[in-house]
Amino acid sequence: MSFFVCKNCGFGSASWYGKCPDCGQWNTLVEKIDFSPNAKNKNQKEFLKKITITPLKSIKTQSKKRIKTSLFELDRVLGGGFLPGEVILLTGEPGIGKSTLILQALKDINTLYISGEESGEQVKNRADRLNINLDNFLFSNDTQIEGIIETAVEIKDKIQVLVIDSIQTVYSKDVQGAASGVNQLKETTKMLVNFAKKNNIVVIIIGHITKEGEIAGPKTLEHFVDAVLNFEGEKISNYRLIRSSKNRFGSTDEIGIFEMTQQGLKEIDNPLVFLESEKINQPGKAIVGVSEGKRPLFFEIQTLTVPSILPVPRRVVKGLDYNKVLLLLAVVRKNLNYSLDNYDIYVNVIGGVSVKSTSADLGLIASLISSFKNKPLPSSSLFIGEVGLLGEVRKVYFEEKVINEAQRLGFKKIFSSQNIKNVKDLMSFI
Ligand code: TYD
Ligand code: MG
Repeated sequence: MSFFVCKNCGFGSASWYGKCPDCGQWNTLVEKIDFSPNAKNKNQKEFLKKITITPLKSIKTQSKKRIKTSLFELDRVLGGGFLPGEVILLTGEPGIGKSTLILQALKDINTLYISGEESGEQVKNRADRLNINLDNFLFSNDTQIEGIIETAVEIKDKIQVLVIDSIQTVYSKDVQGAASGVNQLKETTKMLVNFAKKNNIVVIIIGHITKEGEIAGPKTLEHFVDAVLNFEGEKISNYRLIRSSKNRFGSTDEIGIFEMTQQGLKEIDNPLVFLESEKINQPGKAIVGVSEGKRPLFFEIQTLTVPSILPVPRRVVKGLDYNKVLLLLAVVRKNLNYSLDNYDIYVNVIGGVSVKSTSADLGLIASLISSFKNKPLPSSSLFIGEVGLLGEVRKVYFEEKVINEAQRLGFKKIFSSQNIKNVKDLMSFI
């Protein structure tokens, strides 16, 4: 039986197509030799391969020392710095600050920086503006992966980190299809992973993602690499967060916080950074306490409910999970008997950041009720708690720690699973 595979995206099919049904490229399907046991041509059958087994206990391991970067907030997300040989995929939208982050983080580490995105002059200008000493950086604009790796191997004793900015600009001479095609992305990444493991050099692969194109691009590389870091934020706001969605050598719940300034990225340690006007109380505003990894953080949620003139009222959510908000609206409808059906509802987290923690549930409901009743929440109040489908308030991870920190920072009324058992209990305070 014949089998055809697309050279661009890897789509497989038993019949040939002129245009790949998956990626839409023309003339990219080529015939693959069939290695299955009932293949017609017996010569093409693969021989039996015996496997080698080793007692797991006898395998020698070496403990590697972490390489610290110049940014503590990045180290925090990595789990204390890079491990030699680690491959990291750093993704984010164009213009969010990935190249800036790299320059600042690696300024004291011997680095080979490959940029297919910018000229040496542009990179140097940025570094000069940021006052970064470039003694430790070697640079190239060349983007053929075979050439990059050959050179990197030659100078491997002089470098600790290889940066590819970006994976969409490099290509392999042996793979058909344009750079940034899925096959090119996968093949070049696999070669970089081999290089990193063989030579114990950290490889940082930068990948652009756009909100629309996420699936076809760097997302397909996630399982090849050791860690995936996402650099996020709204361009209009200056805050930037780093989260890891995968981390073989650390945890995935730490986040790093930065502010983009004229002098580059500034590290942020203040847990109240996202609160703009804690003191002013207005209907629809609630402060929530969450723990991101081991660090308590505080965010302001704003909710606006207004009578709708639309047949299907609007729900607009920024900074929280849309489906989670719909779920909590259903909880409110059922448990508090509020009819929000004729209201448009807008929810926003201040600072252009997104909150992933379930600990924000209780605060979202409080802000919703507060807006609906047009009544501010008690002054200096804070909400911590996950809300279940039945309206029950659940204790969250590191709750005591968040409460302690909130008390230290002067929050007077703290609502959590310790004093609110069900969302119904909120009604006596709002
Ligand atoms: P950049 O690192 O080039 O983004 P990416 O590599 O993710 O595409 O950063 C681009 C933006 O950051 C650019 O719009 C300008 C802004 N920026 C500052 O605001 N301050 C600075 O000091 C630097 C270097 C950049
Ligand atoms: Mg860049």
